[in-house]
Order: sequence, then structure tokens, then C-alpha cells
Amino acid sequence: MAIPRNLIDEINEKTDIVALVSPYVNLTKRGKNYMGQCPFHDDKSPSFSVSPEKHLAKCMACGEGGTATTFYSKIKQISFDQAAAELAIPLGIKLDIDVVKNDDRPEHALMKEAGIFYEYYLHNSESGKLALAYLAKRGLTMDDIKHFQIGLAPKEKSALYQILSTKGFDVNLMMDAGLVKTREDGSYYDLMNYRITFPIHDEAGRIVGFSGRTLGDDQVKYLNTPETDIFHKGDTLYHLSLAQRDIRMSKKIILHEGFFDVIASYKAGIKYGVATMGTALTKRQAQLIKTYANRVIIAYDGDKAGQNATIKAIPLLQEVGLRVDIVSLKEQLDPDDYIQKYGIESYQKAIEDTKDPYQFGYQYYKQGLDLKNANDINTFKKNVLFMLKGQDRSIREIYLKKLSEDIGASYDSVMPKTSYESYDIPKKETKVTIKKDVATKFIRAERELLVAMMREPSLAQRIDQTLNTQFVADMDLFKIRATLMLGYYAKYDTFDLETFEAMLSEDEKIILDTKVTSHTEWRSHFTYNEDAITRLLDLMVSIQDSKAYQSLLKEIKDVNEAYTQTLLVEKQKQLKNKLSKRQVDV
Ligand code: UTP
Ligand code: MN
Repeated sequence: MAIPRNLIDEINEKTDIVALVSPYVNLTKRGKNYMGQCPFHDDKSPSFSVSPEKHLAKCMACGEGGTATTFYSKIKQISFDQAAAELAIPLGIKLDIDVVKNDDRPEHALMKEAGIFYEYYLHNSESGKLALAYLAKRGLTMDDIKHFQIGLAPKEKSALYQILSTKGFDVNLMMDAGLVKTREDGSYYDLMNYRITFPIHDEAGRIVGFSGRTLGDDQVKYLNTPETDIFHKGDTLYHLSLAQRDIRMSKKIILHEGFFDVIASYKAGIKYGVATMGTALTKRQAQLIKTYANRVIIAYDGDKAGQNATIKAIPLLQEVGLRVDIVSLKEQLDPDDYIQKYGIESYQKAIEDTKDPYQFGYQYYKQGLDLKNANDINTFKKNVLFMLKGQDRSIREIYLKKLSEDIGASYDSVMPKTSYESYDIPKKETKVTIKKDVATKFIRAERELLVAMMREPSLAQRIDQTLNTQFVADMDLFKIRATLMLGYYAKYDTFDLETFEAMLSEDEKIILDTKVTSHTEWRSHFTYNEDAITRLLDLMVSIQDSKAYQSLLKEIKDVNEAYTQTLLVEKQKQLKNKLSKRQVDV
């Protein structure tokens, strides 16, 4: 249901548009209006105009912006209705629809309190003095410490627990949020002791976790909040929320491995830095970056691990449509060490000196090989050809030439004309295994049901309808089921493995083999009775109570949409073929 026009108008008229825009644009008064640099494009001259009189905030150069509601929805990247609903609240305007997605949870308030405490403790305690000295030694100013909201977890084993208790928070909540743990005797203690704390924010700017760097001699350098209902490391990028404005202005992101690297860039005036926090970049993180920027500069550590992580991150970032540039720092340094050693100016230069993914990849695959050795030549060739698959033809040609020169063979031997076209196939989507820890019992049940659908076509419809897109434990099994129902059973009414396999892509065939037909359910000749099916379906329906499942839901939705679409297109093609054949027949 749409929000009535008159209410939208009221919201736009009553909202103080200068106050609304101010956090995002540095405004100066010019006559009746205010001007500033546009937050939506890389603006050199102040082109963004705010008119309190007309209730408009719009860029004269790029045209982005408009009424208060439009501006707010664009800058926050939320729907128009959502923006209207949020703006309506402080104005006391009642909207008759439920669009306000207030998903604040008690954990968020708790984390906020913990963050306040850690910060307070850093600046107001004896051990805080030592910690501040440590941070100063690492080159952080007070402004940096404030910006990154850095704090200190006390040495005392349960200081945070006690503080949060006196504030009235429930200990179960503290444990759910990963702040506090319990001993066998039932007493409680803090997860982090004597550590510099870095709060980690979600996209909405709420603290969802902490990472603590040891100040002592603890083996674990950084201790992180475990995965909780509100903290999923693979969905989160450190500093993204704090850097939002700078990212939007520059339309780019610099991607680091660690906290101190983001801080190093920040000090060098590169404020659009984020970090994956030491783990491999996930597809979700790549998608997250894409919602804010067009371009990403990977500046991982200069060591082998950093290079390996870079080569893995590149396709993920390219696949979501980002331009990727790569910085390789000399002497295996990470950005933080680099600045310590060579200073800010040298770092700024190093950041400008980027490679494109092919330059980087070519060099990466070449290093350490002896190109006089046939085994090495084969490895090198294989990797370079893989990298070039599906890429632009000119790029491919340039690197094939280079490859043939480097290994001392003819161009034609590297890539025979006949196979040239097959290399035009769009590069296969890099497999990202989504490990969500959905209990194996669910996955097994889903597999058994899939097998039942193949063994007993009469059961297929019912199982598919019950599971639908709602009860899914494994994305791959779900995809196979979708093909089975939308592709196979739409055409045939008995099941034949070979015919079905012919419908699958190479990837899907492998999945079918590893995830279905190699399992005992498939091999056993157990017949499916009503009770067994009902039991399995009941189990699958209970999957919603499983915690990990909640985070799977979104993924299922995305895949489902994309998948159904491809299948429909495929079907349409088949139909068209059939029709054209018939015409020929006639
Ligand atoms: P590094 O080991 O490269 O640490 O880990 P660093 O950033 O250079 O740390 P300093 O300079 O010695 O303080 C990179 C990132 O990996 C994550 C952290 O996010 C860290 O910043 N990490 C590392 C962990 O989560 N746990 C660890 O034990 C180590
Ligand atoms: Mn470091």
C-alpha cells in the first residue's frame, strides 16, 4: 500500500532539510540557499544545492536528490517508503502502514553500552595510560582513537560483566552477544581481558562485535566476538559504516586485511578503507562493497598470504561488477608497517601505483617457476589460460602473446584457433561454498527427500510443495530440486538419471554426484512409505527454529529468483525450438 501523497508532502514540508543534509554535506549559506559538494558524485565545485524555501536538496550537476524523502532514501540506500516512515517519526506524523523495519535487538543496546565502557576505560584508568602510550607508539592520534572508537578491555576478569549487570542487562543476553562466558562453577567472566578493543559496526552503524588486540603476551593476537545472532563476520566489513560518506564521495573503497591497516590509510588521508579482518573475502562482502562503490583497490599485506588472498578476492569482486586495482607493497610489508617504515608520502605513492587484475595475476602465477621446465610451463599455461577464460578478447590476446614469448612457444600452440571461441564463454562463477552450519540432520533429510522425489515421481509434487523455497538446508540440493521440478518433471513423468543429467550443467552434474548419488540413500533400495516422508518433512519444517537458518533465508531468496528466471528462459527456448521445428515439419 502506498503512503498517501498528502502525507508525503507533509513530511517533506516539515522536515528541516538543512539539518537532514548537513551530516552528509558540508553546507555553506549562499543567499537563500545552501551549497556544498555533492555526496552522490565526485564533485569538484560545490554543486549540491539545498533550498529550505522549496524544501529541496538536489545536485545541479548530476541531478541526484530531490525532496527530503528522496534525498534520504538515496543517501541511506533504503526504499522510498522506508525513508518516509523514518522521517515521519520525529515529526509525529502517523503512517498507517508498517514499513519501519526496526530490527534493533536488545543485543545492539548491550553492545553499545560495552563500547562506551571500553572507551571510557581507555581514557580513564591506570592501565589505560599504558594502552594509550602503546597506541601513540603505533602512530595514532587522539582524533584517530576517537574516530575508530578504540577502547580498552580491563585486566580484571569480569569488569565488563559487572558494569553491564549494574546497568540492568541480563547475563544471558551478554552471553548471547558473545561478551561474557561462564565457568563450570557457574561464575561469569569477560571474553576479553587487557586488550585494545575495536568495535565492529554493521551497515546501520550499530556495534555488532568487537575485536581485541592483546597488550600482553597472549598467543591469540586478536580475539573476536564469536558468530552471534547479530554478528556474522562474513557479512561485515570493518569500518564500512564509519567510512560510508567518504566511500560514497569517492565511489571507491580500499580493501585491507587488518584494523591497523585501515587506520594507516586513514592517517594518510585515505579514509575510504575497510577490512575483511584477516579472513577470505566472501561473496556477500563483495556485494556489500558494490552497493557503495564502483571501484575497489585491494591493498592486502605484501606477503605470500596477502597475495594468495588477493588472487582469490579478484574474481569475487569482478563478478559483482567492480573495477579492481591491486596494490602490492614491497618487502612483504602490510600498509601499517609500510607507513611506519617509509612514511605517509611514500605510502600515498605506493597506493597510486596499482596493477590491473591481469598484470597482477600473470605475475602471481609466474613467480617461483622455471620457464625452462616443462612441468612449470604446463602449470603456468594452465593458470594463465584459466585467468583469461571469458575475458575480453584483446586482453586475452595481449597475454597470450606474452605467454607464448615467455615460454618460447608459438602463439598458435598456446591457443589453437579452434579453441579460441570456446574461451569466450563467460567465466564460470567462482564457487563460493556457503557454510552456514545448518545441522547435518537437516541436510541429510533434504537429501533423502530429493532422492525420494527421483525414486518415486508420485511423491515429487507433494515434497516440492511442502519444502518450497521456505525449508531449505543446502543451496546445492535446492538447485537440483528446482531443476528437477521446473525442468525435468515438467517434461517427463518417470525418472531417468541419464536424461536428467543431460539437463544439468557440468557444475550441477558434479554436485549431483557428490551430494546425492554418491550417498547411501541413493544406493539403497529402500522404498519410501508415507510415514518416512512425513517424518522427514516434519523435520525439515522445524528447520526454521535453527539459528543458522535465519541467515540462509536471504540467500535462498536470491538464488530462487535467479534460478527460476534462468529456467524459465530455458523453457521458453525449448518451446520456441519445438514450434519452429513443427513449422518445418508442416
Ligand atoms: P595480521 O596478523 O596481519 O595482523 O592480521 P596485523 O593487522 O598486522 O596486526 P598488528 O599490526 O600486529 O596489530 C590481519 C587481521 O586479521 C585479523 C585481524 O582483523 C587483523 O587485523 N586477525 C589476526 C584475527 O582476527 N585474529 C588473529 O589472531 C590475527
Ligand atoms: Mn600489522
